[in-house]
Parts: sequence; C-alpha cells; structure tokens
Amino acid sequence: MSDWLAIDFGTSNTAAAYFHDGQAHQIQLEADKETIPTAVFFPQRSGRMEIGAVANAALIEGDEGRYMRALKSVLGTNLMSEQRLLGGRRLDFYDVISAFLGSVKSRAEAATGRTFVHALSGRPVRFHSKHPERNDQALADLTECYMRAGFKAVNFCPEPEAAALSLGHRLENGRYGLVVDIGGGTSDFTVFKAGTEIDIITSFGVRIGGTDFDRVLSYSQIMPHFGRGQRLTRLMAQDTLIAPNYIFHDLSTWEKIPFVYDPASLKLAKELMRDAVEPSKFARLVDVIEYQYGHELAFAVEDAKIACNAEQGPYRAPLNFLSDPILARITYDDFLTEVDGFKQELQDAMRITIDQAGLTPDQVQDIVLVGGSSLMGFVIDAINLVFNAPRIHQDAIFTAIVDGLALRSARIDHSKN
Ligand SMILES: Nc1ncnc2c1ncn2[C@@H]1O[C@H](COP(=O)(O)OP(=O)(O)OP(=O)(O)O)[C@@H](O)[C@H]1O
Ligand SMILES: [Mg+2]
Repeated sequence: MSDWLAIDFGTSNTAAAYFHDGQAHQIQLEADKETIPTAVFFPQRSGRMEIGAVANAALIEGDEGRYMRALKSVLGTNLMSEQRLLGGRRLDFYDVISAFLGSVKSRAEAATGRTFVHALSGRPVRFHSKHPERNDQALADLTECYMRAGFKAVNFCPEPEAAALSLGHRLENGRYGLVVDIGGGTSDFTVFKAGTEIDIITSFGVRIGGTDFDRVLSYSQIMPHFGRGQRLTRLMAQDTLIAPNYIFHDLSTWEKIPFVYDPASLKLAKELMRDAVEPSKFARLVDVIEYQYGHELAFAVEDAKIACNAEQGPYRAPLNFLSDPILARITYDDFLTEVDGFKQELQDAMRITIDQAGLTPDQVQDIVLVGGSSLMGFVIDAINLVFNAPRIHQDAIFTAIVDGLALRSARIDHSKN
C-alpha cells in the first residue's frame, strides 16, 4: 500500500492526492474542495491555527488575528527566519509553512484512513529566476518544512512535468506538446513527446505569476488612492516631496503585507497624513495599517484583476472594508500596459524552452494550459505570438499537477527511501 502523499504546494492554492488501484485519487482537504487556499490564520488569543478556506473566512469575517498567504514566495529569501508574533507565539516562516504542511498531512490521513510517511511534492522549475543562488536555498527550506511537518522523506518533481504526465496522453502519439503552467508565483514550462510513455524532454521556468499581476495592478491603479505619488508640504528624507514608494510596494505584495503592520509603518503613514497636500488619501493608508486591512485590499485587487480580465474592460473595485469605503476604478487598457513586460518575458521563456528542447515552435502543435493565471487573456495572446494556431488543452487547470504527482509517486524506487 502506497504511503506517498502527492502535494501540489502552490503559492495561492494547495492540493493533495495519492495513488491507489492504478489511478490518482484527489483528496478533499476541505469539504467538496479539490484545492484549498495556501493560507493560514492565527487567532489573536492562542487557539488553533486555521488553514485554507476557513482561514480566508476568518479574515473576511474580521476575526482578531493574523492572516498570511503566498507563503511559498518566501522560500529561499531572508524573510524565512523573520519572526512574527502569531497567536501569542513568536514564529518564523519555517514554523508557519511546516504547520501548514502538517495540517495537509493530517487532513489527508483523516480523509483516507491511511498514514502518509513520504511526500512527493511539486516544485517550480526555478523558485527564483532573477536570483539563481536562492534556488538551492528555497529547495532546502521546503525540504526542512516537510521534515518538520512529520514526513520521513520528501521527493520533488517539477510541477509542469507532473502536469505532462497526467495530461500528455490526450495528445496523439508522436506529437510534441508544451505544458504552460502559469500559477500564482511562477510560470513553468515542459516540452514532452506523447506516446505510450510520456517522454519529458526539457523544462524551464520564470518567477512570474498571478501575484505579480495583482502587485502591478495594485501599485499602479489602487495605491494612488492611498497616497502613492502624492505631494507633501515638507521634505522627507532623501529630499523628496513625494511619499516614499516602498510602503505602497509592500502593501501591493501578498507575502510582504504582514510586515507592513509594524509601529514604524504606522508612524510613517501618520506623518505622511500630517504633511500631505491631500491628507484624505493618506488617511486611508493609516486606516489600512492601523486596522490591518492589507489582505482585504489584496483580495479586492485580485477580484478586480479577474473581473476585468473576464470583461476585457474597466471595473469598479469596491473597497468596502475601509472606514470610508470607495469604488476604485480599474482600467483594463492600463492594466494591459502594466503587464506588457510580463507578457514579453513569458514569450521569451516559451521560446527558450522550445529551443532548449532542440525544436522550433512549428514542431509544437499542442499547448497544455495549467495554473489559474493561464486564464488571463494576455497569456493566451503571448502563446499565439510564439506558436502558429496551436491546439489548446485547458480542462484540468487546477488539478493536473497533483494528479501527475500521484501518478509519479507510483514509479518511485521504494528501495531508495
Ligand atoms: N478566472 C481567473 N482569471 C485569471 N486569473 C485567475 C483566475 N482564477 C484564478 N486566477 C489566478 O490564478 C492564480 C492561482 O493559480 P494556481 O492555483 O494555479 O497557482 P498556484 O499553483 O497556487 O501557484 P504556483 O504554482 O505559481 O506556486 C492566482 O494569482 C489567481 O488570481
Ligand atoms: Mg501551481
């Protein structure tokens, strides 16, 4: 009986599965859900850490406590060891990610009646594409978190390769396919050849994902409502008359939001409000920091991104959680301009992957799309700029990876573990 748990630990969502009776079985980590948000909530006064949709609900209901998401983005960075007071205890990201993975393990065991001793985890091809030296550290960090979560061993499989294993059979034998996995934190690509066995040819990846699209949308179109770019009546440090940008940048970045809730940021926001030409905008910034509305804001931006992508037009984002609620207008055309650099980088990454496989784009006629951000219209545009009228397969975007990991777990040489 397999004691391997397949885990797709994603920046935004996590799924688990196992192999049994010749097939992959997804495990419901929460009732009626194939995936759960990769999120945690620590109630203010001790109590149990919540994960997934329950953590999201606690945030939305305004429970007192600390919420965190996009934990995976922190792997391999210095933030891993930064401690925060969470539920009455000082914890760092190793503690938080281990606790999350430990909860996934125990829920999977409760749901299946099995004991999972080994984990086969997905991993992006590259956690950090601009800082390659952080890749090894990220993998070491994640390994440590799995061990602390109670697994005896963890193996890793690149996420797009897992997707190729689970969906590659949909292509006719002998055809080349490209998995395009655009998730919350990274974009990952695998070229494979379909056949009785799926032949993995090469993989490549860049650190670009939906949380980056949220970040640029928030920074450029939402943060001006909170004082970004506003003039001040007194000089700040560095002789500037404009509010400093880093606070708006951090507030737009999912994994940095908890770090904005410190006395220094609140003090800065209050000083900005005092010195502003237009204090009402900075009053909103003070509101967000003082009452810890950063994640509510990030969710409103993510919803706005999805809505204006679906409509391919403008959208009014309701910021109802603010003490003085506003409707923030989002312009789709401006959003497209803001993500144009990402679109270009995605095209480059696909060309590099194809080239690394020793193929030309004309030889790849099938694109297997996975990852929630593959639903962005500009991602499809990027694909059509590289490939000539490809056949696009898009029917298991949130579950292909975990299914492929479960299939892969059946082939692990058990004598080595
Ligand atoms: N309908 C949609 N349109 C556009 N984007 C979407 C849609 N639904 C989800 N997303 C985005 O998809 C992303 C999450 O996708 P997914 O669950 O595949 O990521 P992940 O596997 O957690 O991340 P990664 O694999 O990069 O670590 C989020 O950024 C989310 O905003
Ligand atoms: Mg993913």
